[in-house]
Amino acid sequence: MTETQVAIVGAGPAGLVLARLLKRRGVEAVVLELRSRDYVEGRVRAGVLEQRTVDLLDEAGVAERLHREGMVHQGVELRFGGRSHRIDLSGLTGGRKITVYGQQEVVKDLIAARLESGLPLHFEVSDVTVADVESERPAVRFTHEGSEVELRCDVIAGCDGFHGICRPAIASALRVFEREYPFAWLGILANAKPSSEELIYANHANGFALHSMRSPEVIRSYLQCRPDEDLDEWPDERVWEELQTRFELDEGFSLNEGEIFDKGVTPMRSFVVEPMQHGRLFLAGDAAHIVPPTGAKGLNLAVADVEVLASALESFYGSGDTAGLDAYSEQCLRRVWRVQHFSSWMTSMLHRPPGQDPFEAKLQLSQLEYVCSSHAASTTLAENYVGLERV
Ligand code: APR
Ligand code: PHB
Repeated sequence: MTETQVAIVGAGPAGLVLARLLKRRGVEAVVLELRSRDYVEGRVRAGVLEQRTVDLLDEAGVAERLHREGMVHQGVELRFGGRSHRIDLSGLTGGRKITVYGQQEVVKDLIAARLESGLPLHFEVSDVTVADVESERPAVRFTHEGSEVELRCDVIAGCDGFHGICRPAIASALRVFEREYPFAWLGILANAKPSSEELIYANHANGFALHSMRSPEVIRSYLQCRPDEDLDEWPDERVWEELQTRFELDEGFSLNEGEIFDKGVTPMRSFVVEPMQHGRLFLAGDAAHIVPPTGAKGLNLAVADVEVLASALESFYGSGDTAGLDAYSEQCLRRVWRVQHFSSWMTSMLHRPPGQDPFEAKLQLSQLEYVCSSHAASTTLAENYVGLERV
């Protein structure tokens, strides 16, 4: 048997940021990850960081490369009806900004920092189970390098994503709220220069499209597709043709094309469990909630959860005060639902559901025009997009 204070299941953004924040607060933790380091570092995901996320990574001392390579953006573009409309994020929010930096880069920086600190982070563990979560001494059991290990702790942080084992272990104490969408995103990475300085969210008769980037030489783009879309039906030429169509402008527009080196389908789902805790097991990030990627909130929300959890644990170990831990779920869920609303609103405003009725199509267009012309409506988009400071 081994022991620690906090056992963290999962080395995604939630688990790794939590481990880092706990180290800074003098709380001991062990991080357990099912996959290999290469696998975790190679997973392609979203790439927009809210300013508060950047500030937190700064405070955690893991933002050096982010500041060097991340691209600071002060606005985004909405494109529909052959016209482009800029939302001045900074102007509408008192100077707040977003940073475009791949989530997998954040994960690489966090893993490097953890390994450099010499603190425990075990990859490729298997047979992970949790036990005694209703007691004051729960355990995580797993197999590592051929040995069976029992890790006793005070608290388990379930940061093992949507398909992890922590949420199912307490399923009978949870209520699920969810919505599936009748579409998905086909995402590509390509060696091409961005065709715009800012992100472009397009609503076109053929469906939604997004133009994003990873560096001055690499773009990330998405196309609305079917949830069961067969990638074999999407040779590169078809991807480019469809992207060109969905980003077209009356005044003319051409996307820079290049070699596509990654292609995949991302499902779209809204999902929340309540509460986000049971006994001494606390869920954080995708283990507790999923948002559709339209507002790029997944990572930001995961980081917001573990910020709350780290503070609660600091008080718990500092003074024995459990008030923060007791209020964890309630405090997180306020932000979770705000972000759920925003992500679902952005999704419904920008996508064309199959068989969309003409009335809905007109409402959608009216909504888009209002968001782009009204100061109040564009401020609503902007302040949620850059991330609300307090919820
Ligand atoms: N034991 C240990 N680790 C596990 C287990 C398990 N049984 N099951 C899953 N994991 C690992 C996964 O391999 C993954 O590395 O937990 C990690 C969870 O990481 P993420 O799925 O990235 O979730 P999270 O850290 O909450 O980050 C949320 O990631 O999926 C994106 O859009 C999402 O941006 C959001 C962010
Ligand atoms: C991305 O760059 O991957 C990205 C950007 C904005 C989104 C979603 C994903 O809304």
